[in-house]
Amino acid sequence: MRGIILAGGSGTRLRPLTQVLSKQLLPVFDKPLIYYPLSVLMLAGVREILVISMPGHIDQYRSLLGDGERLGIELSYLEQDQPRGIADALVLGREFVGDEQVALILGDNIFHGHDLARVLQEQVVKLSGATLFGHSVADPQRYGVAVFDDSGRFVDIEEKPQRPRSTMAVTGMYLYDNEALDYAQQLVPSPRGELEITDLNRRFVTEGRAQLVDLGRGTMWLDAGTHESLLEAGNYVRVLQQRQGVQIACIEEVAYRVGTLDLAGLEAAIERVGVASDYGAYLRQVQDDHQRRATAHEGL
Ligand code: G1P
Repeated sequence: MRGIILAGGSGTRLRPLTQVLSKQLLPVFDKPLIYYPLSVLMLAGVREILVISMPGHIDQYRSLLGDGERLGIELSYLEQDQPRGIADALVLGREFVGDEQVALILGDNIFHGHDLARVLQEQVVKLSGATLFGHSVADPQRYGVAVFDDSGRFVDIEEKPQRPRSTMAVTGMYLYDNEALDYAQQLVPSPRGELEITDLNRRFVTEGRAQLVDLGRGTMWLDAGTHESLLEAGNYVRVLQQRQGVQIACIEEVAYRVGTLDLAGLEAAIERVGVASDYGAYLRQVQDDHQRRATAHEGL
């Protein structure tokens, strides 16, 4: 499966923060926002990932993340010259995806939860058609919202409905079979001039080939599209990290745990970041923990 992170848009709701900076590079507590969706794709087992962003921003992503070698994955980059909608990522990413399945994630969506990696890996294995991930929210009118019939069957999605028919938002992470690329190409722009991901998803729903997986209460889903939600996300990350002493979306740690980075790669990352930052110091701790465990094992 190939992965696409859409880090496009002009971030109009976050001006002046986004006057110069790309939205998905803004800090969520101690890391750039894009680290969070990137770590989710890595946890799902995706190793080849395309980052799509606006022309003036793409070099910033490239210098932040490189070609992925330092994480043991492959990263490539593509420009989206106009914000033509989320589904446009599948049109632009056609060549990159080739004949594979694709996981599309929005660069401003943060997912976190104890069981997330297992749930994602499971869904990747049994993917057929489209798999969408739902999360119950207090303000569904801000999102694509799932509609269920009387027997609780998932039958439709409404984009930003004024009167939502459920509280189940469709989050910004989507798994698709390859024909999603053709479907995306056949979409017509909505009144706001965008290729709507909800239109694409509705096609799969109509064909009876869309699954909606409820992420459940044990998983946190945040988007960082407004100043409030960006600050909320930062606070969430700060509280969890400081209480638990473990980091959320530390991409080198994730790479190490999913096995794409070895101890030498981890050491190189520590040297690059430096231990003056909490982030670098944390990586050192991950490495020390590993060595301690290895030594304890030898002693058995
Ligand atoms: C987009 C999608 C919406 C989805 C949301 C998730 O909304 O159109 O269906 O629920 O992402 O973040 P937008 O970011 O365009 O407001």
